[in-house]
Amino acid sequence: MTHAGVFITFEGPEGSGKTTQLRALADFLAGQGYPVRVTREPGGTPLGQDIRALLLERHDLGIVPRAEVLLFLADRAQHVAQVLRPALQNGQVVLCDRYADSTLAYQGYGHGEIPLDELRAAIEFAVQGLWPDRTFLLDLPVEQGFRRLTNPGAKDRLENQALAFHRRVRQGYLALARAEPHRWTVLDATQPWDAVQRALREHTLALLQQRGLRPRPR
Ligand SMILES: Nc1ncnc2c1ncn2[C@@H]1O[C@H](COP(=O)(O)OP(=O)(O)O)[C@@H](O)[C@H]1O
Ligand SMILES: [Mg+2]
Repeated sequence: MTHAGVFITFEGPEGSGKTTQLRALADFLAGQGYPVRVTREPGGTPLGQDIRALLLERHDLGIVPRAEVLLFLADRAQHVAQVLRPALQNGQVVLCDRYADSTLAYQGYGHGEIPLDELRAAIEFAVQGLWPDRTFLLDLPVEQGFRRLTNPGAKDRLENQALAFHRRVRQGYLALARAEPHRWTVLDATQPWDAVQRALREHTLALLQQRGLRPRPR
């Protein structure tokens, strides 16, 4: 799939720095004159906001694994059609906080109930070939990520699950990155925040240059 823009996703365990790093990278790129679009999953569209609330706040629904996957994928299909494809066709640098690899890592490797090939087929149905140009994996031991979370009392439904689950998620991410090294860049997220940000900027500027994307005159 070709598009004028560049599609970059951020993946990694809870507290690895995805959201704060992505925002700082977006500000940096915008300051350099690049057209940047920041978004996230779940919740990147109005429909997605409602789905996000269901997934993260409704602990009373007993959502079964396949229903959970389909809710994430409904969010994603809407996000691809309403936000991601239009922005990419428009030549924007799209920075997305979690995407398809989260489904493979959490619902696949983490829960371990749905075979990965079934998950991949379902994801394909939702994204219709839209995979990231680059995926940054902010990797760190799960305990360290949890220690960073500012408000551990307000953990959402996924964060409340056992550490063992999150360790499988981390190993899943690392396996995905090993299987597709041309798409993934694995960064050591135990480094100081500034060092991670510096690495993100370097990798991203190199990618934008490689893709022929130039800052727009302002
Ligand atoms: N490399 C780092 N060193 C120390 N603290 C960090 C680092 N990266 C992120 N943090 C802190 O950890 C917390 C979680 O970061 P956040 O970006 O929200 O992670 P995520 O979105 O991956 O869950 C924030 O308070 C953030 O400032
Ligand atoms: Mg976050």
